[in-house]
Amino acid sequence: MISRDADRDSTLLSTVPASSFIRQGIFHNLYGIVKFLPSPVGDFLRLGLIWLFGGNVQFSWIRDGLTVYYPWRLSIGKHCWINEYCHFNAYGGIRIGNNILMGHRTTIMSDDHVFDDPDKPILVQGRIGEEVVIEDDVFIGSNVFIGKGVRVGKGAVIGAGSVVLKNVEPYAIVVGNPARLVRYRRPELNPPTAQG
Ligand SMILES: CC(C)(COP(=O)(O)OP(=O)(O)OC[C@H]1O[C@@H](n2cnc3c(N)ncnc32)[C@H](O)[C@@H]1OP(=O)(O)O)[C@@H](O)C(=O)NCCC(=O)NCCS
Repeated sequence: MISRDADRDSTLLSTVPASSFIRQGIFHNLYGIVKFLPSPVGDFLRLGLIWLFGGNVQFSWIRDGLTVYYPWRLSIGKHCWINEYCHFNAYGGIRIGNNILMGHRTTIMSDDHVFDDPDKPILVQGRIGEEVVIEDDVFIGSNVFIGKGVRVGKGAVIGAGSVVLKNVEPYAIVVGNPARLVRYRRPELNPPTAQG
């Protein structure tokens, strides 16, 4: 899904539709009450509030400090562990599968600012959103950044602190900035070594 703000001649505030802005505001005020409540009770309340605001969530553990923008464009499968202080901007949509392990302070950013015109403030040039998809059984380390439009394949592992701007193949282990392939978890996917 790619979404782009239509009106580039307005302020950042007015590029967000009014209904969305109000909904977002109400969500933030309510969510702020439960955002830092300790686990496990806080996990239920955070999940419940995301669900109330249109998030397509199944039962998962949502540790304290998670920031969520556009919860109605967020889906989280079952048996996921989202650790403390993660940040999900679901402007372009975020789909998280089942059995995901996510380290603390990881960011999923499904949008970006448009900066095509160097003569206009970036602030007024709008935003572009592209869905981020995390398939089942993915382990994401702490302090990872995943950018817009990225698909992380089933069974992949992303090392701590990685910056992921391109798709990650199923069962790949990637690390670093920009994320590079280390190897695959399935031996048959790895190239044969010199020893055979
Ligand atoms: C990536 C990880 C899973 C290890 O995977 P692995 O396949 O066993 O990788 P290795 O330890 O064999 O390292 C392979 C290479 O990647 C590098 N590497 C490993 N983790 C890295 C990281 N996070 N960032 C940058 N490079 C990393 C190693 O230095 C090594 O480099 P080299 O080939 O140049 O020597 C682990 O390092 C990691 O980052 N775990 C995340 C821990 C975490 O954040 N947990 C959160 C709790 S939920």
